[in-house]
Amino acid sequence: MSNVRFGVIGCGNIARAHMWALKNGEGIECYGLYDRIKEHAEKLNGEFDNQFKIFDTAEEMLTCPEIDAVILAVPNYQHHPMFMLAAQYGKHIVCEKPLTMSVELGKEMVEAAKKAGIKTQMGLCTRFEPFVDAMMDHIQAGNLGEVYFIRTEILRRRGAPTGWFGNKEKSGGGPLIDLGVHVIDAAWYLMGKPKPVSVKALNYQKIENKYPKDVEIYSSYENDGNEPYTVEDSTHGIITFEGGKGIMYQASWSLNTDDVEDRMELYGSKGGFIKNPCKLIREEVSGMTETTLFSREGDCYTRQLEDFARVVKGEKESRTPVEDGLQIQKILNGLYESARTGKEVEI
Ligand SMILES: NC(=O)c1ccc[n+]([C@@H]2O[C@H](COP(=O)([O-])OP(=O)(O)OC[C@H]3O[C@@H](n4cnc5c(N)ncnc54)[C@H](O)[C@@H]3O)[C@@H](O)[C@H]2O)c1
Repeated sequence: MSNVRFGVIGCGNIARAHMWALKNGEGIECYGLYDRIKEHAEKLNGEFDNQFKIFDTAEEMLTCPEIDAVILAVPNYQHHPMFMLAAQYGKHIVCEKPLTMSVELGKEMVEAAKKAGIKTQMGLCTRFEPFVDAMMDHIQAGNLGEVYFIRTEILRRRGAPTGWFGNKEKSGGGPLIDLGVHVIDAAWYLMGKPKPVSVKALNYQKIENKYPKDVEIYSSYENDGNEPYTVEDSTHGIITFEGGKGIMYQASWSLNTDDVEDRMELYGSKGGFIKNPCKLIREEVSGMTETTLFSREGDCYTRQLEDFARVVKGEKESRTPVEDGLQIQKILNGLYESARTGKEVEI
């Protein structure tokens, strides 16, 4: 079958990563771009030799028969309306994370996808990292035994994005929904997607989005310079699951510590796994051993879209369907509720 052709809706920062993936990946290609600010689409297209069609409206793209699937790379508060629109026109959808702003809106998206009979993929790209695949292989081979607890963190010393990201009305939250979502999701996936029972979080807003002179500012494309900062700058919590399993996480945009790139520690009854640097820890006949794993090929965005092309072609099920996005949304919203009330929240 020919390549699966994508339209990209929203042409800001993450759209660029998707465009490179579409350029480099097997069985996938970009057909066109749409942004509600046309110059954003034109600028991105310019970085790719103006190869692609620029659409004037979302509807024009969504009725284009050459396009099989769309990537929704718009700010979080735009996920729900754009998803509902794309589903209405029957396009397969890659929706950036998080799913949306609330569990209720998420349920509408799940229903809309079902009704339209479309395939979906959440932009939970950490699940597509080569090391996560390697960890899953070891788990499925039984090398870790039962994985009963995961500790994970993704920390920026200073890295609060500007613009809509810091405005809760538009983002739904700060580093929990922006960064924590990736490691919480990957941990949940590696644990075998157990049913969540309860959550407890502590969120802080102590440093906000202030930058010292010497640190480069993370900027978002959609930024009129007047957005309020109304989200946490760090979050620390625990999620418990059926069977007594648990995930403990930390995520920050601003925290007086070291930068940590999505570290994970998996504790299993027969072995453990540490990501960054990646090693498998096991008790063997000779005693305790540590095995270093070497990365497989490919970046997560390319592997993610290549995988979705196979889903669209009917060769496999989606690894990150919208239903998983909803389950993660329930956890995220529960964590925010817990941080607000100071209480443990049942999911
Ligand atoms: N998977 C990842 O690793 C990752 C990384 C960064 C961002 N993201 C997610 O990607 C999404 C976009 O983030 P970003 O950093 O690219 O933001 P951004 O502000 O850089 O870009 C957003 C773009 O969307 C456009 N836009 C807004 N509403 C639109 C609409 N209704 N229709 C068409 N265009 C619209 C804006 O004009 C802007 O060009 C967010 O949901 C974010 O959480 C994911």
